[in-house]
Amino acid sequence: MIFLKHLFYEVENSSTQQTERILEDINLEFSKGQVYAIVGANGAGKSTLLDIISGTKNPTAGYLTNNAQDVHQNRRSFLRYLEKVSYCIQNAESAFFHKTVKEELLFSSQNQELLDQLVRDYDLQEALELSPFQLSGGQKKRLLFVLNLLNEPSILLTDELTAGLDQEGKSAMMGEIISHKDKRITIMVTHNLEDALYYADNLIVLSDSRVTFAGKTNEVIEDSSLLTSAGFQMPETFLLCQQLIQSGIFNKGDYYLNSKEIAKQLLLQFKGEKSDE
Ligand SMILES: Nc1ncnc2c1ncn2[C@@H]1O[C@H](COP(=O)(O)OP(=O)(O)OP(=O)(O)O)[C@@H](O)[C@H]1O
Ligand SMILES: [Mg+2]
Repeated sequence: MIFLKHLFYEVENSSTQQTERILEDINLEFSKGQVYAIVGANGAGKSTLLDIISGTKNPTAGYLTNNAQDVHQNRRSFLRYLEKVSYCIQNAESAFFHKTVKEELLFSSQNQELLDQLVRDYDLQEALELSPFQLSGGQKKRLLFVLNLLNEPSILLTDELTAGLDQEGKSAMMGEIISHKDKRITIMVTHNLEDALYYADNLIVLSDSRVTFAGKTNEVIEDSSLLTSAGFQMPETFLLCQQLIQSGIFNKGDYYLNSKEIAKQLLLQFKGEKSDE
């Protein structure tokens, strides 16, 4: 379990010499087996929050604890924490240091079996001898994800991991995240509220450096005012599902990822009714 207690992050603005508050009094908890989505506008502080949870940045004030241990208490507790964390950073390229994809992978893990399997699953066989910088945007994201999975983390952090990926690439990554969520704490930052509502068990809204909502995704699906009052516009797919619930076609709490999934559900219901007759 991770706790953030009265956590602040401030930086000195070099041009104005003023202290800027990037995160303000953040209080959150994260449990194993749960997927958390952090959403919020550009510049709200999402990546900074993930940097702090990953240990990349130290909070200016407040605590980060893991299993009741203050992560920053001493060097030993800090290093022990770092071993558990994998962090897919927002800019994938900043995570690559080696000449080839193969070297990058071998540096991250000696577990050849897992490595071979992930290379196959994420279709990187053809890219092994290339420089990571020669890869396409989608391949870079897949390599970043694989490198992070090789650590077999108990805390997995992702920052806009699926942004810019096609549906197939996104489904493969999200499938992995969801099917192995029981063994980890998973925290994903995303701009895509549809994905957050569909995949995450919990939603956290960051707005102007503060948490303005933290709660169960199911609660938001049943009462969208929890998000709209935080200044969010609900996605089209959500509004469509709401209309279908109001018309008695879908059940309360039903939510599907996209219009294709909604059409599939409608067809299933229609066929079901036909076969009942
Ligand atoms: N080292 C720093 N010095 C000055 N300002 C910083 C620093 N790090 C972050 N910021 C500022 O903190 C704010 C939050 O940045 P952050 O990258 O966490 O936002 P974000 O929510 O991840 O945005 P995006 O959606 O664009 O990725 C921004 O206004 C950014 O300019
Ligand atoms: Mg960011």
